[in-house]
Amino acid sequence: MSTRQLRLGTMLHGAAGNMSAWRHPGALADASINLDYAKYIARKAEAGKLDFLFVADGLFINEKSIPHFLNRFEPLTLLSALAGVTQHIGLVGTVSTSYSEPFTVARQFASLDHLSGGRAGWNVVTSPLEGSAKNFSRAQHPDHALRYRIADEYLTVVKGLWDSWEGDAFVRDKISGQFYDPQKLHTLNHHGDFFQVQGPLNIGRTPQARPIIFQAGASEDGRKLAARHADAIFTHHATREEAQAFYRDVKQQLRQHGREPNDLHIFQGVGVIVGDDIADAERQYQATAALVSIEDALNYLGRFFDHHDFSQYALDAPFPDLGEVGQNSFRSTTDEIKRKAREQGHTLRQAALEAATPQPLFFGSPEQVADGLQAWFESEATDGFIIQGGTPDAFERFVDRVIPLLQARGLTRRDYPGTTLRASLGLKTPVNQFTQP
Ligand SMILES: Cc1cc2nc3c(=O)[nH]c(=O)nc-3n(C[C@H](O)[C@H](O)[C@H](O)COP(=O)(O)O)c2cc1C
Repeated sequence: MSTRQLRLGTMLHGAAGNMSAWRHPGALADASINLDYAKYIARKAEAGKLDFLFVADGLFINEKSIPHFLNRFEPLTLLSALAGVTQHIGLVGTVSTSYSEPFTVARQFASLDHLSGGRAGWNVVTSPLEGSAKNFSRAQHPDHALRYRIADEYLTVVKGLWDSWEGDAFVRDKISGQFYDPQKLHTLNHHGDFFQVQGPLNIGRTPQARPIIFQAGASEDGRKLAARHADAIFTHHATREEAQAFYRDVKQQLRQHGREPNDLHIFQGVGVIVGDDIADAERQYQATAALVSIEDALNYLGRFFDHHDFSQYALDAPFPDLGEVGQNSFRSTTDEIKRKAREQGHTLRQAALEAATPQPLFFGSPEQVADGLQAWFESEATDGFIIQGGTPDAFERFVDRVIPLLQARGLTRRDYPGTTLRASLGLKTPVNQFTQP
């Protein structure tokens, strides 16, 4: 029996699987815009006692974007709809700090926290795509370092706004006519480099005191932001050793901010295919991978490099030398793609197919998948996983066949410990900054 609790979320990502999985005979081709499908996955996740649903997002598309990105729900709107049909599952949505205002976003996540009874989580991203500027009336996309400076101040403002009201500020005394206690109202008056925000926020302290903050982004600056502000990190590493190094580094950085290692959970986003045995999983993988053409794969790879056009290079020549391309986009991901292609001597074709149709790390019979997850967890490569089905029905199979094994091994719980995402994740309740001694 393990004393640490393995944490689990799942990603709502269209038909699930690779970019062309909507063509799979078992897929709902319109899954990315199908509310009934999202409800079904949410209820399935809740049946498996998962901690949360995770909705990624982006702010720029072009004709080469993957089908799921072309036509999908805005995360907070979708999660608000799911709040009404679920009771325990955490609802985590992505919003960019580079293209929004802290007052609006603080208010939106506070609202989701109230209307879900304490299940809201915000995945903070800085937006990797240059084209986003064109959708937000901006002349320029801020560079990587500037995006993280903005994000840092942004989070300080949002947290300050979430502390506007103490939990018992609204007395609503009908006899005396007193609606709130003015001693329990706090005005932020923030004056910074990027934001001037007076406050207070026009919604009360939320059921979780404040929504859970996820951070996705693994560069040095991304890790620093997470160590200072986040309750959880969404990341991705291809090997256990890389994941362990990342884990040690982030947990170490927490101490510099007076935080304990278990104040922040690290989640690896992982593909999973559950078969009757390894041959069955391999068959499922090949059937889904075969749906992706090499042109699709080049476009998929190109998006990480800010929609770089890879069709200009020879497919079977060594992976091209891209210099600085990708540095201002998904930096940690593009660094990794370049490094791997160099180390493994991959051609462009190999690198593109590897990016678009990776063989899931956790793959095989239910026991093999459970063994793999357990090994990563127990060797401190991660605190938990965000499960991304490698085929359209992989998540259902995961819940039906792998979750019972994880529960039997004492790695995951058989029921929810409370009603909030904070309770599910075992995170401390933050103290209001205005009432700290
Ligand atoms: C695992 C992971 C998930 C991400 N999810 C999103 C997302 O849903 N939406 C988005 O705009 N950016 C997303 N990003 C991009 C980051 O927020 C960030 O802009 C980009 O990765 C560059 O930062 P980095 O170099 O620190 O990773 C993600 C990055 C990673 C590593």
